[in-house]
Amino acid sequence: MYNEFSKKFLWGGATPANQCEGAWQEDGKGISIADILTAGNKQTHRLITPQFNQQYTYPSHLGIDYYHRYQEDIALLADMGFKIYRFSIAWTRIFPNGDDVTPNEAGLQFYDRIINECLKHHIEPLITISHYESPLHLTFKYNGWLSRQMIDVYLRSCRVIFTRYQHKVKYWITFNEINGPTTDKGDFSSLGILNDHQHPSDYKEQTHHAQVRFQALHHQLVASAKAVMLGHSINPDFKIGCMQIFACAYPLTCHPDDVIQTMEEDHIFNYFTSDVQCRGKYPAYMSRYFKEHGIRIQMEKGDEDILKQGTVDFHSFSYYTSSCKSADPKKHRGDGNTIDGVPNPYLATSEWGWQIDPKGLRYSLNQIYDRYQLPIIIVENGLGARDHMTEDGSIHDDYRIAYLKGHIEQMHEAICDGVELIGYTPWGCIDLVSASTGEMAKRYGFIYVDYHDDGSGNLSRHPKDSYHWYKKVIASNGEEL
Ligand code: BG6
Repeated sequence: MYNEFSKKFLWGGATPANQCEGAWQEDGKGISIADILTAGNKQTHRLITPQFNQQYTYPSHLGIDYYHRYQEDIALLADMGFKIYRFSIAWTRIFPNGDDVTPNEAGLQFYDRIINECLKHHIEPLITISHYESPLHLTFKYNGWLSRQMIDVYLRSCRVIFTRYQHKVKYWITFNEINGPTTDKGDFSSLGILNDHQHPSDYKEQTHHAQVRFQALHHQLVASAKAVMLGHSINPDFKIGCMQIFACAYPLTCHPDDVIQTMEEDHIFNYFTSDVQCRGKYPAYMSRYFKEHGIRIQMEKGDEDILKQGTVDFHSFSYYTSSCKSADPKKHRGDGNTIDGVPNPYLATSEWGWQIDPKGLRYSLNQIYDRYQLPIIIVENGLGARDHMTEDGSIHDDYRIAYLKGHIEQMHEAICDGVELIGYTPWGCIDLVSASTGEMAKRYGFIYVDYHDDGSGNLSRHPKDSYHWYKKVIASNGEEL
């Protein structure tokens, strides 16, 4: 039983390739689906433009120029005392088209440098294999994950990176936020399925028919299970995890209809994919859901065995917010990127409409651990907010410190409850482009990046107040908050 953060607790932070690397065509990189997403903001949704159009800005093309500044960035993470750093590998750096026969050596060398830099600073790398950036060529050729062919090309990439980094990397995640497409709010980034191959369209309106979404998800679940098996065959000590958006859900009232509504939404959004990945089979409640929604999953012979054998070693999730569920369809459903629900009257809300609920994190950790009894890493958490640099170059982000402090306190409570929480990698530890809005204005970092949505700024890095605070948190192993 734990009652404190273990001495080996993995404190760190997380960034993804497509929202920070930039260098979108350097050293042989191919075009990914993230590269055709335009900038947006709270009011204006991002667009998918199958053809590039000069009238738009594409934030992934420059990102925060991490490709050229990673040494400085990782040195800053090390200075904060990071024990672990979660980042993703851009599939299109390794296989520019996704289905190339041989990998792109220059792309691999970039990740050699990142990993070596981490190890030099005694930081454990945690790699997400697919984070919202599959190759665009595969969207045109196969319509993304709707095609079963994606499984093989994904595994080709897994084999290359597992083999190359087998002695350097222990922790892996197969897919970022795999459960996103279980809702009809799912966007384009996760499955790479495009409705219109010619014209710009709203990336939030790629709300495919449930049959399409769940079939594509089946392919990802099989790919994930096969990746786990492949990884373990290359190095049995690998720890390979699933990764979910966990949308902590409360009944809006104690009316039994609201409670049942919550149970049903919890099943489909919060548990379906992790039940498959952690327990190795489709959960019983999905039969009813598929029947009532006219969904027929095409499984191939052997799929059930693959799912059974390819269960994960740990559970990981992103946690930003919670929401309430109501059986009354007239109740307003609030905003969140893929999370929706009725706003909770007891909680404050961020400028981007995400409700702030640290206790929901303790509750979620307990729910997940009760269900799977697997080690857990919280791989995303944080507050997206506007930051302002004062004339003397400081950034006073006390609101972010308050948010993170509240969540770390509840992590500690969950550990006292007996939850095997082994790590914490807050989101966007360096400011980067927002995924849902495609803007720089929504910042999460401990490190400020001098770059703005109008293209101004010199991309220089500056520690915020939260940087110095988090450094103390890590140094005191979570005691000094
Ligand atoms: C998660 C994604 O959904 O939330 C990240 O894994 C994303 O890619 C993060 O950036 C925060 O969302 P946003 O929209 O504020 O960037």
